[in-house]
This record gives sequence, C-alpha cells and structure tokens, in this order.
Amino acid sequence: MLLMKDIIQEGDPVLRKRAQDVSLPLSETDLNTLRLMMEYIQNSQNETLVETYDLRPSVGLSAPQINLSQKLFCIHTVDETGKNLFSRAFVNPKILSYSEEKTYLPGGEGCLSVDESKNGLVPRSLRIKARAIEVDLETGATESVYLKLQGYLGIVFQHEYDHLRGVLFVDKVVEHLPGVVPVQFTENNNQ
Ligand code: NI
Repeated sequence: MLLMKDIIQEGDPVLRKRAQDVSLPLSETDLNTLRLMMEYIQNSQNETLVETYDLRPSVGLSAPQINLSQKLFCIHTVDETGKNLFSRAFVNPKILSYSEEKTYLPGGEGCLSVDESKNGLVPRSLRIKARAIEVDLETGATESVYLKLQGYLGIVFQHEYDHLRGVLFVDKVVEHLPGVVPVQFTENNNQ
C-alpha cells in the first residue's frame, strides 16, 4: 500500500514535468499503479487507517505525485450533494473545453504534494468537457469515455489534470474571487 512517504512534495522536479502518454493496451504495471492510487485514496477516507498509517485525506491522486511521470489519475469522492459517488480511474485524459464561467471551493484547495499549511482559493471552470480512457480496476478492462463534469467533480478533475501538466494549485491561488459563486455543498457533506 502507498503511504505518505511515497508521495513526493512540492519542490520535486517530477511534479513540474509534463507527464507522458500511457501506452495501450494497459500494462499490468500501469493497472497496478492505478489500483495502488485508488487504494490510497480510499484508505485516506477511513478514519482508522488514517490514524494507523498517518495518512492525509484525499479525494484524488495522480501518478506524478508518486514519482511516475505518466498520464494516470484516480478520483474517489461524492459530489456536492453527498449522494453520488464518483470513483473512477483514468488514463490519458484530455480536457477538451473549459467554461468561461468559474467556480471555486469555498474552503480552498489542498494537495497531498503541498504542505498542509498551504491552501487557497483557486478559480476553476464551472463546467468542463473531457475525454479519457477509463479503467475498470477490478477487471482491467478499458473504455474510451466522454465526460461532462461540473461543480465539485469538475474541480477535482481539473486539479488532477493539472498535475499531469506540471501545475500545482498553489500556482493559481488568488485572494478574492469577486462575483464568482463557490461550490455549494449540501449540509452533512463536509468535503
Ligand atoms: Ni494535488
């Protein structure tokens, strides 16, 4: 299993590289990487495991963060309503379009590769369209998918996608976002 010591930190040049395309069909190694990343995210949302292994909670993880400069990332979270689980593993994602209209996480973004003390408001597109190869982590089957994401899930996707381009959220932090509507989380969903 992955632990915090496996996650590289801001200042490491790998986090600033453009990740490489992953060749298909997906190798066993790349499938295993995705499984390990998804397992970390899920473990990091389990209170007991967080305490036992000193994990920082997360909802997404990209391969450059574990020192692999490859276009792979996983997301495991519910949306802002708290009702819909989005648990998916992606290979070679490409954001095709970004809406002009922006949004942001009202509590600011954070990142496992950036010191916990740093967080900040990041303007993100309210809606994105993307394509990717999605991987079924149980069977290893791959499928080309077209995604339309908005709000919280769109923000998480944009954050992970930025990692594949050598961009960290701290590069985009602003102090104020006048006129921009933040993501509204339903009560009881304290993401
Ligand atoms: Ni991050």
